[in-house]
Amino acid sequence: MSRAVIIGGSGHIGTYLVPRLVEAGFEVVNVSRGERQPYTPHAAWRDVRTVTLDREAEEKTGEFGPKIRALKPDIVLDMICFTLPSAKHLTEALAGKVQHFLHTGTIWVHGPSVAVPTTEMQPRKPFGEYGIQKAAIEAYLIEEARRDGFPATIVHPGHIVGPGWNPLNPAGHFNPQVFSTLAQGKTLALPNFGMETVHHVHADDVAQVLMKAIANWSSSVGEAFHAVSPAAVSLRGYAEATAAWFGKEAKLTFLPWPDWKAAQSSEEEATATWEHIARSPSSSIEKARRLLGYVPRYTSFEAVFESVAWLVEKGVVKTH
Ligand SMILES: NC(=O)c1ccc[n+]([C@@H]2O[C@H](COP(=O)([O-])OP(=O)(O)OC[C@H]3O[C@@H](n4cnc5c(N)ncnc54)[C@H](OP(=O)(O)O)[C@@H]3O)[C@@H](O)[C@H]2O)c1
Repeated sequence: MSRAVIIGGSGHIGTYLVPRLVEAGFEVVNVSRGERQPYTPHAAWRDVRTVTLDREAEEKTGEFGPKIRALKPDIVLDMICFTLPSAKHLTEALAGKVQHFLHTGTIWVHGPSVAVPTTEMQPRKPFGEYGIQKAAIEAYLIEEARRDGFPATIVHPGHIVGPGWNPLNPAGHFNPQVFSTLAQGKTLALPNFGMETVHHVHADDVAQVLMKAIANWSSSVGEAFHAVSPAAVSLRGYAEATAAWFGKEAKLTFLPWPDWKAAQSSEEEATATWEHIARSPSSSIEKARRLLGYVPRYTSFEAVFESVAWLVEKGVVKTH
């Protein structure tokens, strides 16, 4: 039995990935602080060993990499690496010791969209510390793979969606009130013409890409893959589809960005919207489809509406 060590396996992606790994026959070890539980229970978790470690604390003493190596993994899936020094520390500890290393990146390694859908080949022009660090990690891991044979694959998810947490909404932030507004047929203001885009992915489709990267080792090592739904959506189209899903017609108004921003009660929400529409991602899945056989189970709307149904059931989104 091959041993898969997943670092940060009890979050959005791990909820779907860990059962897939168990069902595929891996002996699974989840490394986390032991604070989070998967969003959806699954019997597979009974077969998972959890090792409690705080990555940040262990990295400070230089012990994180050696402790992961001591678990004797065949495969390591790193869900929570955010800085280049963190990636280097782990890679140096695992070099020559693992058959496959899978890093979870983000489509924010790309800056503002240029020619869409954006391919993995396009030059990286990230902005913001998160995207800049993730792009640096990607470049480092690809170089390590090509120069030294470190068996790294990078998977870049879009905005991850699933029942159990708030999806990125049609106003480009995370306040679920936006869904209530559309459900109740009330007016929603969108920035600009509402034509900027967001690109969701269901967490299970991210897990699918990771599993297919493992299954297609020779095609995936040294490569990066987007993990997104088949198509990005415009904020306007997203708002209209959401209202229709609730049986309503969307009532939308449009404001130039400075006016829209000033009209928001929360600076945090305006910032979240800016972060998303300043990039307006629209990523290609052609490479994952061609090399890995990735076939997304969910469109953006299907993924989001599964989440919204959960929010309605919990009483977070109110239809009246
Ligand atoms: N969320 C998105 O929309 C999105 C979009 C694109 C890319 N990504 C990328 O996806 C990855 C995150 O995946 P996710 O959304 O599945 O994760 P997540 O839901 O944030 O879960 C994080 C996991 O890591 C564990 N963890 C957190 N801090 C830890 C620490 N200091 N030491 C050990 N374990 C720790 C958590 O468990 P404990 O709390 O119990 O430790 C949990 O298992 C990141 O690399 C992110 O950049 C996310």
